[in-house]
Amino acid sequence: MFSPLNPRITRWQGHRVWIVGASSGIGAALARELLARGARVALSARREEPLRELAGAALAEGRALVQPVDVLDAAAVRVAHQAVLEQWQGIDLVVWVAGTYQSMRAFDFDLAAAKRIMQVNVDGLLNGLACVLPMLISQRAGAIGIVSSVAGYGGLPRALVYGPSKAALNNLAQSLYLDLHPLGVGVHLINPGFVETPLTDLNDFEMPALMPVEAAARRMVEGFEQGRFEIHFPRRFTLALKLLSLLPHRLYFALVGRITGARPAASTQTAAP
Ligand SMILES: NC(=O)c1ccc[n+]([C@@H]2O[C@H](COP(=O)([O-])OP(=O)(O)OC[C@H]3O[C@@H](n4cnc5c(N)ncnc54)[C@H](OP(=O)(O)O)[C@@H]3O)[C@@H](O)[C@H]2O)c1
Repeated sequence: MFSPLNPRITRWQGHRVWIVGASSGIGAALARELLARGARVALSARREEPLRELAGAALAEGRALVQPVDVLDAAAVRVAHQAVLEQWQGIDLVVWVAGTYQSMRAFDFDLAAAKRIMQVNVDGLLNGLACVLPMLISQRAGAIGIVSSVAGYGGLPRALVYGPSKAALNNLAQSLYLDLHPLGVGVHLINPGFVETPLTDLNDFEMPALMPVEAAARRMVEGFEQGRFEIHFPRRFTLALKLLSLLPHRLYFALVGRITGARPAASTQTAAP
């Protein structure tokens, strides 16, 4: 009925993909999935060892590249991007996965941690956009996928800073779409619910609709193939949160408070994905 919002990625064989944040969790699972489908994958994150392990035989075959980088270092991001371009003369899909989470409420506000969350999740992406946008615009082809979170839909307990960092990404992705779509460049916003990764392994509460990381990677690949703007999963959880975010504030606060059991100084209640 409706045409897809983005150009569909219909063939992964030889597709040149740069994944930033590929050393564990969602980024690593996506890399495994795309390598299995025949894509060429450049892997970046701070830790080189897991990237090399992940690349495995594909490194010698020239189907994988390893470019360690700290996204907080704008110059290093530029160098890594240039290195990938020199090898492949272009990139068809950039997936920005790098991010961090720390539970925080008003009662335990930690300025240093708050700034670090904002820097990794927001400034890190800006460092990436500084080099990736001119490339995509001059290519007039290709796409960028930004991994955000459903925590960006609306305020949640214990996501005092993580939530706003992801809300910024959701807004930014929409603006990017408006600018890049007319040029034939795709923009995908990926909003996961809870996914089993080292990041959520630290949570000491029951996570609703927790999803295996391999399934999350497959949902992302399907979303790229379908040309979706927003790729969100698992849908039974993400759709419920979308509905909540449409409610008047009085109802939203009452329901979120009740569902999460958020009370002052509670340390074992539901947190944010
Ligand atoms: N798991 C979930 O339930 C969930 C839900 C919603 C959204 N997300 C989002 O999904 C993304 C991936 O999270 P995950 O759950 O897969 O966690 P994860 O396993 O901890 O992965 C985080 C990735 O980001 C990289 N990274 C962190 N800081 C970096 C930096 N300064 N420079 C370069 N790379 C950096 C890490 O690599 P190095 O440590 O090697 O640098 C790692 O590869 C995050 O943006 C997260 O907010 C996760």
